[in-house]
Amino acid sequence: MNDTFLRACKGDKVYPTPVWIMRQAGRYLPEYQKIREKVDFLTLCRTPELAAEVTLQPVDILGVDAAILFSDILIFMKPMGIDLQFDEGKGPMLTPKIRSLEEFQKLRPIAPETDVHFVLETIKILRENLKDKVPLIGFAGAPFTLATYMIEGGTSKSFVNTKKMMYSNPDLFASLMELLTDCTIKYLNAQIEAGAQAIQLFDTWAGVLTSEDYRHFVLPYIKRIIDNVRKPSIPFIFFAYDAVHLFGIIKDLHVDVVGIDWRLSVKAAVSFLGYDKVIQGNLDPCALFLPEEILKEKISNILEDAKNAKSHIFNLGHGILPECPPEKAKFLVHCVHELSKKYEPVGSEKRTDDRVDFKILKRVFFEGEDALKIEIISSRYGLMEGFLKDISKGGMQLYLTTPISMPLDTKVRLRFIIGARQLIVNAVLKWKAPTDSYYSGGFRFEDLSVRDLDFINRLYTANLT
Ligand code: CP3
Repeated sequence: MNDTFLRACKGDKVYPTPVWIMRQAGRYLPEYQKIREKVDFLTLCRTPELAAEVTLQPVDILGVDAAILFSDILIFMKPMGIDLQFDEGKGPMLTPKIRSLEEFQKLRPIAPETDVHFVLETIKILRENLKDKVPLIGFAGAPFTLATYMIEGGTSKSFVNTKKMMYSNPDLFASLMELLTDCTIKYLNAQIEAGAQAIQLFDTWAGVLTSEDYRHFVLPYIKRIIDNVRKPSIPFIFFAYDAVHLFGIIKDLHVDVVGIDWRLSVKAAVSFLGYDKVIQGNLDPCALFLPEEILKEKISNILEDAKNAKSHIFNLGHGILPECPPEKAKFLVHCVHELSKKYEPVGSEKRTDDRVDFKILKRVFFEGEDALKIEIISSRYGLMEGFLKDISKGGMQLYLTTPISMPLDTKVRLRFIIGARQLIVNAVLKWKAPTDSYYSGGFRFEDLSVRDLDFINRLYTANLT
């Protein structure tokens, strides 16, 4: 199976860069339209053989590196007691609108195995069909986004009814969020049980809230979902649309991948979200209307920016538009694969046993000498703390305050992160026996250029506050 997507989710730098497209199974594909001529959208979602067929279409036609279950975030509204209609061109329409305690009390929690069995069957069919192809992503809508649809009765411009409930009846709003969180946890775990290999949580309308309100009214529920769904073997992707102002919150979420919309450059997003995040995104869906040469340049810029991220999964910054010519989507996938190959490390850079990020926290005295206090994120050993000393062109000394056992000689790819700047160096770690208070070892740098040495020297003089 092509596992580039799953490996990238887990933080491996993968070449070529994996790519999939939000709404990749959809109206821009004539093959999808053909099926939609016979059945309406919701029937399509509720018929496992057909839902599986359209899920596979973009995998076969475009050559994307992941499949996403064909369904909708609103699919469990009906079992909750809400009528859902999709009228051509109008978007979803939900009745009754949930605006009072009486309406809320009529809602039912879902039992995925019976209420949305068709979704679970679709997943099972897909896993069978995708065996030698690509991984399958399951998904759900985040509680706030679902709540907006339930309260407004559809899409909205101002979300006035949602905010009105949030401010004037916070208890009712919290009850609704609580119920939706329970449903989402059950629903996502059922998808994983059925075979979904990664999960994406869509918070499409997150951006309509201030960061203060998002933190207060929404974040606890997002955290509860992550805590109850994310597993080491199942990467969790969080996607919030129009949410640059929420990056300070999103940055601290315990997720594997952050999906970003098209508004901010990947470069800026990486510096806001941190170099230890896997980024998914973020070509403007409208860029697919550009002439090929310019489109190629835009793709190339995103790949260049993403060099700084822990890892990158290419995607659009929002769903592909029905007006998009399918050949442009094909061209996009082809370009991502071709253009990203050049970033693959060559020769000695490839042979690393561990990838370590040193986040430089501050300059300190350690054992009576100048040193740097660091936070360490190792791909093998996880999060640790320690000190760096004796930094020179040849190498440096590492002191770990976290006890671990490590092979005597480890080839590492070190990344020094200081503020928005970073430097990648290959090194060999010679590990010494631990003392009572710390473990220590010496790094010998490989291929350190004079320019890189300048950077390291600057670490000592930088104003670290
Ligand atoms: O990405 C995929 O290919 C998987 C399938 C998928 C759909 N909807 C199919 C769909 C996914 C992941 C979704 C998520 C979804 N649905 C979101 C979150 C993502 C986002 O776009 O921000 C939201 C907000 C919805 C709700 C929804 N569903 C709306 C607002 C609409 C109408 C607008 C539109 O694009 O038509 C839908 C309908 C819908 N969902 C279609 C598809 C393919 C079009 C249905 C058709 O064939 O007419």
